[in-house]
Amino acid sequence: MGLERSCGGCCRTLYTILLMFIGVLVVLVLETILSKLPRPQDHLKTHKYNAKVTTAKIDIKPSRHPMVPPYPYPYEFIINQEDKCSGRNPFLVALVISRSQDVAARNAIRKTWGNASNYDSVDIVTVFLIGLSPIKSHEFQQMLEEESMTFRDIIQQNFLDTYLNLTLKTVMGMEWVSKFCTSASYVMKIDSDVFLNVEYLVHQILRPDLPVRHNYFLGQVYIGARPRRNKMDKWYVPLDVYPNETYPPYCDGSVYVFSVDMAKKIYGIAQVVSLMPFEDVSVGLCLKELHIVPIEYPGDAYRRSEQYNHCTFKARVGVHMEGKSDFKKIWQELWSNQSVPCES
Ligand SMILES: *[C@@H]1O[C@H](CO)[C@@H](O)[C@H](O)[C@H]1NC(C)=O
Ligand SMILES: *[C@@H]1O[C@H](CO)[C@@H](O)[C@H](O)[C@H]1NC(C)=O
Ligand SMILES: *[C@@H]1O[C@H](CO)[C@@H](O)[C@H](O)[C@H]1NC(C)=O
Ligand SMILES: *[C@@H]1O[C@H](CO)[C@@H](O)[C@H](O)[C@H]1NC(C)=O
Repeated sequence: MGLERSCGGCCRTLYTILLMFIGVLVVLVLETILSKLPRPQDHLKTHKYNAKVTTAKIDIKPSRHPMVPPYPYPYEFIINQEDKCSGRNPFLVALVISRSQDVAARNAIRKTWGNASNYDSVDIVTVFLIGLSPIKSHEFQQMLEEESMTFRDIIQQNFLDTYLNLTLKTVMGMEWVSKFCTSASYVMKIDSDVFLNVEYLVHQILRPDLPVRHNYFLGQVYIGARPRRNKMDKWYVPLDVYPNETYPPYCDGSVYVFSVDMAKKIYGIAQVVSLMPFEDVSVGLCLKELHIVPIEYPGDAYRRSEQYNHCTFKARVGVHMEGKSDFKKIWQELWSNQSVPCES
């Protein structure tokens, strides 16, 4: 009693500290338990496709740097268009990079360059490549499935749709073409903010009157580009993600085009090549491994961000519009003025 009283203040302080310590411990334990519980998307079932949506625990290579996309891994198609290409021979398949929430951008493409019924001389297939939304996953998933029932142009696998996982989306596109659309002649990967001039690409560059090329990879080529090694840089690449001083030649990711045989080759080699978070560089790494040299668009066929002008746009494959453009207006102008002559 005497002892207790004599160190009363001191004991109380110790007692308080002990309580706080236990409190923190309890919170930590609870957090660990909660984080191991399944997240909402783990339960998500796609009723129509009857496939389970999981962001699977991926630990094939435990030493993988967190920046390196988890691959190879047998991601599953949870929304698929297995019959999109059956019974037809699309001249061009456009794989458009998209996210669940980009409905407006998809609709703009569906109404403009992506509307296949505008091209009567060639068959064009447009599909959108999407992963699992990391935000509002359940809500977005349901809307996406409804949209897919209406337009039948959504392709989705069960990886998290994040910037660092973009490479997985490109590889999914290659996988889809090599499994479900081998009857096509050419394939392209395009970002949803790029305006595609289908007429120019199809009739001036690829040309349906010529035999289909093989081992063909076309784009805006970068040679000798170097990884950014400054830690403050947005595109910083640590040495253990990519050790070499330069990247192999690769094409700008906004819009590149290839012969259909390349899809299968790239999908195949992607199973063994060590991939990067940058999808354009990753495809370059695959091409190097395949001994395929990408070739440059003729002329000045690709531009990053350019004001609309009928005569310059006429000779572009694609123009990156940085989101502030009116696809519909450009489309109408370009389409209705096709026969308006331009000085060359
Ligand atoms: C596609 O074009 C056709 C004919 O040009 C038109 O009837 C149809 O409404 C268009 N589709 C969309 C989604 O705009
Ligand atoms: C990429 O997707 C996988 C599979 O869903 C996920 O486990 C991983 O966290 C994602 N990576 C990033 C950086 O978002
Ligand atoms: C990286 O450098 C090594 C050694 O020079 C070379 O053998 C290898 O092909 C390079 N890899 C790439 C992807 O350029
Ligand atoms: C293109 O067509 C639109 C109508 O769609 C017209 O108003 C415009 O003047 C035309 N532009 C050129 C360069 O001919």
